[in-house]
Amino acid sequence: MRTLHWTDRLLAHVDRSLKTMTGTLPANNDFDYESRADELTPEEQAKSRQLMRVNHCGEVCAQGLYHGQMLSARRAATKAHLAHAAEEEQQHLVWCQQRLRELSGQTSYLNPLWYGASFLMGAATGLMGDKVSLGFIAATEEEVCKHLDRHLAELPERDHRTREIIAQMQADEAGHEQAALDEGGASYPAAVKQLMAFQSKLMTSSTRWI
Ligand SMILES: [Fe+2]
Ligand SMILES: [Fe+2]
Repeated sequence: MRTLHWTDRLLAHVDRSLKTMTGTLPANNDFDYESRADELTPEEQAKSRQLMRVNHCGEVCAQGLYHGQMLSARRAATKAHLAHAAEEEQQHLVWCQQRLRELSGQTSYLNPLWYGASFLMGAATGLMGDKVSLGFIAATEEEVCKHLDRHLAELPERDHRTREIIAQMQADEAGHEQAALDEGGASYPAAVKQLMAFQSKLMTSSTRWI
């Protein structure tokens, strides 16, 4: 098997990042839905579109975070753990991208900005050591689960398809939180979690509209 040169890896990374940010990753069909977007009223579609644009950006952030952390993680076991979670996150991203398309919505223009910020944040926490880095994942996923709860409450009742996607994502995110703690992640103080919640609010409120 040919060993990849670092330039090949860099190009592969740039290609994946661009597709992540622009919502053009190849589609998959591992979700079997019952309802379709055209059964919803225009108002319901608009609401779902708005929330799914935010969730798509959340998954773009997850990619940035994991890509950054994989770059600076120390232990091989941590790198493997991060790679596995990032793969599941990529599935989430594709689900959001597809649903957004069905709802005739578009991805956020702010995706490159949030991807870059998350990548830097991931790489920086990775430099502080695996314990800090895994703890950051746990704290982030905790916040994501709360955020998805709020979205489930806000989503149109009849949009079963979007609900199904969010519920599955929420179950996976809770799994990521627990796995990061089991892998040795540090428990973050409440003040840091509050700061992270504020940053998440900034992302979710901006990408609703832009
Ligand atoms: Fe996710
Ligand atoms: Fe996750």
